[in-house]
Amino acid sequence: MQPDITEDAVGGLDTTWEAFRSRVNAALEKYVLQGTDCPSQLQAAMSYSLLAGGKRLRPVLVLLACEACGGSPEAALPAACALEMVHTYSLIHDDLPAMDDDDLRRGRPTNHKVYGEALAILAGDALLTLAFELVARDVQPPHIAAACCADLANAAGAVGMVAGQVADLEAETAQETSLEQLEAIHRRKTGRLLCSALTMGARIAQADNDTLNLLRQYGLHIGLVFQITDDLLDVRGNAEKIGKGVNKDAALGKLTYPSLLGIEASEQRAAALIDEACRLLEPLGSQAQPLRDLAQFILHRDH
Ligand code: IPE
Ligand code: IPE
Ligand code: MG
Ligand code: MG
Ligand code: MG
Repeated sequence: MQPDITEDAVGGLDTTWEAFRSRVNAALEKYVLQGTDCPSQLQAAMSYSLLAGGKRLRPVLVLLACEACGGSPEAALPAACALEMVHTYSLIHDDLPAMDDDDLRRGRPTNHKVYGEALAILAGDALLTLAFELVARDVQPPHIAAACCADLANAAGAVGMVAGQVADLEAETAQETSLEQLEAIHRRKTGRLLCSALTMGARIAQADNDTLNLLRQYGLHIGLVFQITDDLLDVRGNAEKIGKGVNKDAALGKLTYPSLLGIEASEQRAAALIDEACRLLEPLGSQAQPLRDLAQFILHRDH
C-alpha cells in the first residue's frame, strides 16, 4: 500500500487548491450559463457534467503554472476554464456505451444515462467548441491566445487525447501488448491534456522558452503518473470516493499498468516518474514548490 500523504506535505497546496477551485467553479458557471440562445436541454446537459464537481486538477494546474512563472492567476482563468471544458467533454464521450459504457461519473449517473446518447454527444461537442471560443476571445494578448488555442487543440485532438482514446479502444482486442504501447496510450489520452495546463499557464505568464520546455517535460511526467494512479484506483479505489465505478478496466480488457506490470511495479514506475518530474523543476527553485506538492498529490491520491 502507498503511504497516506501527510497534512504537512500538501497543507499549503490544499489551501491554494481550494481557493483556485472556487474561482474556477464560479467562472465555469458564468461561462456555461451565459449562452442565452442555447437550447435549454443542451445547456442543462452541459451544466450537468461541467458543474458536477470534480477535482478541477487541470484548471488549478493552469493557475499554478501561471503563478509559478510570475503571472497573475486571474489572467489564466479563461484558459483554465477552457481546459476543464475539454476535459469534461472527454469524460462525457469516454462514458458512452460505444466507449467505456459507464453509469457513474463524478458521483452521479453519467450524462447519457440522464439526457440520452444523442444529447450527451452534443453536450460534449458544445463544451469542446465553447472552450476554444473563450480562449480565443478572453485570453490576452491575442498572440498568446493563439498559442494557447494551438496547445489545447494539439493536446486534445488527433495526435493527443483523441488519438490516445482510439489506441485505448484498439488495445482492448490486441493480441500482444507492451509497456511502450501502454505508455504511448496513457501519454496521449491523459498526459497531453494535462501537459497543456502547464504550457498555457506558462505562456500567459510570458515565460521564456527554457521555462516553457521544462514545464512541458514536468507536465508529461505527471500526466503519465495521473493515468497510472487512475488505473490503480480502478483496482483498489473506493467507488464512493472516486465518484465512478471500480473494477471496470479488467472487465473491458483494458491495457492498464496493473494489468501489464502488476500493482507493485506500477507504483514503482509512478514514484520514479514523480522523482524525475520534481528534479525537472530544480531550476525554478522555491517558486515551483506548489508544483512539487502537486506531483506528490498525484502519486498518493485516493480520489
Ligand atoms: C478522470 O480524470 C479521467 C482521466 C483522465 C484519468 P479526473 O480524475 O481528473 O476526473 P475529475 O475531473 O476529478 O472528475
Ligand atoms: C480516460 O481514461 C481518459 C480520457 C480521455 C477521458 P479512463 O477511461 O481510464 O478514465 P475513467 O477511469 O473512465 O475516468
Ligand atoms: Mg476510457
Ligand atoms: Mg473510462
Ligand atoms: Mg480509468
